[in-house]
Amino acid sequence: MLRLRDVSAGYGAAPMVQEIDLAVETGECVALLGPNGAGKSTLMAAITGTIACRAGEFVFDGSDLGRLRSHEIVRCGVALVPEGRLVFAPFSIEDNLRLGAVRLRGGHGALAERFEFVYRLFPRLAERRTQAAGTLSGGEQQMLAIGRALMSAPRLLLLDEPFLGLAPLVAAEIRRALERLREAGVTLLIVEQKLDVALPMASRAYVLIKGRIALHDSTARIARREDLAHLYFALAAGQA
Ligand SMILES: Nc1ncnc2c1ncn2[C@@H]1O[C@H](COP(=O)(O)OP(=O)(O)OP(=O)(O)O)[C@@H](O)[C@H]1O
Ligand SMILES: [Mg+2]
Repeated sequence: MLRLRDVSAGYGAAPMVQEIDLAVETGECVALLGPNGAGKSTLMAAITGTIACRAGEFVFDGSDLGRLRSHEIVRCGVALVPEGRLVFAPFSIEDNLRLGAVRLRGGHGALAERFEFVYRLFPRLAERRTQAAGTLSGGEQQMLAIGRALMSAPRLLLLDEPFLGLAPLVAAEIRRALERLREAGVTLLIVEQKLDVALPMASRAYVLIKGRIALHDSTARIARREDLAHLYFALAAGQA
């Protein structure tokens, strides 16, 4: 579904991520792991076209995303739940969700169907639809950020550290929602720092260290590695 080949991207002269080969197949849940500053969010920005400085092959369902602008990439069916949620604090839940649908085709019928889909996935949002996003709890804001991305009817959802700062019970609620999304046919690429959070959810994982893919394997094989925690930290420290 998504295939990156020899991708590099960054903000200035020197690329922040380099020689990235990464694939996500339809229906999969893939994890992108890596420590602070590895370039995970930069790679998400490159896929979604929000940074201009990018090179290599970005192919999604046969379309070359490398030539498209970010709003066109959303139209192709790729949506990002950004790091830090970035909900619009003074706006209501309903208005935040509506903003996610600006690129949705299909008129009122499609919009109503999307609202129903998101409210069924997160009943807590339905109960609070007129509440200002800034007054929501962290977990509810994360639900809203995911809901907003879903309003564009994506087939591939990218989530940048969706569990960060959430209590275990809320994180579990969001994890269950992501599982339901996958059952509904949405393909997932989840950015995460913690191995124990990401590995049970995904079928394969890429480990990004200092802007490069240092390791790629099935999560079952990665989880069986007894040296995993050691390897992860050693890679991050540049010793492996
Ligand atoms: N807008 C920007 N301009 C210049 N450099 C940036 C910008 N955003 C990020 N960087 C740099 O790019 C590098 C990678 O950052 P990035 O946010 O992609 O890492 P990350 O893996 O997402 O880390 P974290 O887990 O902390 O979110 C960092 O050195 C960071 O300082
Ligand atoms: Mg990040």
